[in-house]
Amino acid sequence: MDLYKEVAELIKTSNYTIAFTGAGISVESGIPPFRGSQGFWSKYDPEEFAHIESFLKNPAKVWKMLREMFEVVLKAKPNVSHKALAEMEKLGYLKTVITQNIDGLHQSAGNKNVIEFHGNCKWLLCLDCGRKEAVKKELIETLPYPVCPKCKSPLKPDVIFFGEPIPFEVRKKAKNEAKKCDVMLVIGTSGVVFPAAEIPYLAKLNNAKIVEINFEETPYTHSITDYFLRGKASEILSKIIFQFES
Ligand code: APR
Ligand code: ZN
Repeated sequence: MDLYKEVAELIKTSNYTIAFTGAGISVESGIPPFRGSQGFWSKYDPEEFAHIESFLKNPAKVWKMLREMFEVVLKAKPNVSHKALAEMEKLGYLKTVITQNIDGLHQSAGNKNVIEFHGNCKWLLCLDCGRKEAVKKELIETLPYPVCPKCKSPLKPDVIFFGEPIPFEVRKKAKNEAKKCDVMLVIGTSGVVFPAAEIPYLAKLNNAKIVEINFEETPYTHSITDYFLRGKASEILSKIIFQFES
């Protein structure tokens, strides 16, 4: 049987399919991945620009990188892959998306059940007084960095920096989903950043079938992946959706 047909059958006959997504799913929306030759981290060393200690020491320097990230993220639109996962949820074949991405594109595409493991780019937080400000272009563009209107401290995006813990509730919800699923679609992630990267391993520990969609092999491929679909997420997910409709 054709691999796409087999994977579509697996999803259709599953009890609880979920997706675990990474930056690769948003590349076709114009947002660069983090790793690899075109990766964001090849331009900005994450230790220097995406670690909470760097932010606290030099917010102006980190906001230089953040403005560039917000520039691409705020104008990005959902691509075929996001829409395919929204369609799967609508058809009742996909229960939840656990995403490492902060771009909000799964929700814009229509997915209702999304767990944002690394937060999202909708809010800026004041670490001193706890105030939350909605992200607006003029706020992002404030030099040298956006400040809290209440206490004048630097504002930080509501995303998880390296060196920061994942909120307990988010981690618990994601782990529960991973334990509940019998099929997990692992899409566009290099699988190297923990604790997020543990999610597919948890699913496997509970005997889920792992369907990996990626250009390249990852640490999952030869350890827990049952179906490795090599290529562009948009092309692969479209072929799977096509099988549902045929
Ligand atoms: N289709 C499928 N896979 C793709 C595509 C595509 N069009 N484009 C890129 N990829 C794959 C790459 O081969 C790579 O394996 O997506 C993966 C992207 O990996 P990373 O850039 O490391 O992104 P991710 O795994 O999400 O990073 C995890 O690291 O820096 C932190 O917080 C950041 O959430 C991020 C975390
Ligand atoms: Zn404040």
